[in-house]
Amino acid sequence: MKIGVIGAGVMGSGIAQTFAMQEGYEVILCDISAEYAENGKKKIAASLSKLVQKGKMEQSAMDGVLSRIDTGLIETVGACDLVLEATLEKMELKQSVFSKLQEICKKDCVFATNTSSLSITEMSRGLDRPIVGMHFFNPAPVMKLVEVIAGLQTPESLCDRIMEIASSIGKTPVRVKEAAGFIVNRILITMINEAVGVYADGVATAEEIDTAMKLGANHPMGPLELGDLVGLDVCLAIMEVLQNETGDPKYRPHPLLKKMVRGNLLGRKTGRGFFEY
Ligand code: 3HC
Repeated sequence: MKIGVIGAGVMGSGIAQTFAMQEGYEVILCDISAEYAENGKKKIAASLSKLVQKGKMEQSAMDGVLSRIDTGLIETVGACDLVLEATLEKMELKQSVFSKLQEICKKDCVFATNTSSLSITEMSRGLDRPIVGMHFFNPAPVMKLVEVIAGLQTPESLCDRIMEIASSIGKTPVRVKEAAGFIVNRILITMINEAVGVYADGVATAEEIDTAMKLGANHPMGPLELGDLVGLDVCLAIMEVLQNETGDPKYRPHPLLKKMVRGNLLGRKTGRGFFEY
């Protein structure tokens, strides 16, 4: 099966790696320039090299995974059976990607989005086919969950197909009806936002907050470290969707979160967030 992944950032390249680790899938990883797409593949090679160094993967298996990943521009996905969009969390951008894909792709190509909280119903407006949400979690090759999201016009049969594909790559899919933040981000990002508030109130240091949640709630990572991993800009965008969609003040993004995003302190990707990298 041929998979197109649009967007070679952290999630796009993680998703491309996840598919390519399974024999039977060939992936084309795309971005707005050939160089960005190639950088995505370099990230995958670096991540696989670590597995080889740790003795968790044979060099030949790594070569096999990389041989199943091609890179290119969006125009190269014409023969794909499934195209997964993993671009920035901007509705207009995602809509324009899908209307372009409509011209490029086969009529029976499935359109899926990795959006973290935007409306799939709105995204699919005016298209000749439905969109389904196929939401992976960071780091995509490791995290077991895939949320399979149905918009208002997504047929059940399409969700069934994505459930099967997700299972075939070793994931556990969970069916979700469209709602702001779906399941995980509505709960998880709200928790991260609360941790920002605890920090801003001077209740404890960033290290202490994270240690408390790791040891007191058995979370694998503290909320502030996790915010840095996800990207504080992504956390802010999700809080804004939750607040705008529901109007509920409990989803107010913390002013410090906004300030850090304005200051480009986005977490790991810019080298500094609540911690330095
Ligand atoms: N490819 C394949 N396997 C990988 C890998 C990669 N890129 N990176 C790591 N692994 C494997 C390792 O080899 C290891 O395997 P093992 O269990 O067989 O030894 C396993 O994954 C764990 O890796 P590490 O030992 O390097 O690291 P940790 O044990 O410290 O775990 C972690 C790292 C999995 C990131 C863990 O800290 C964790 O689960 N953190 C929470 C992550 C989380 O909550 N993510 C969700 C964020 S929200 C989101 O993404 C939604 C979005 O819309 C915002």
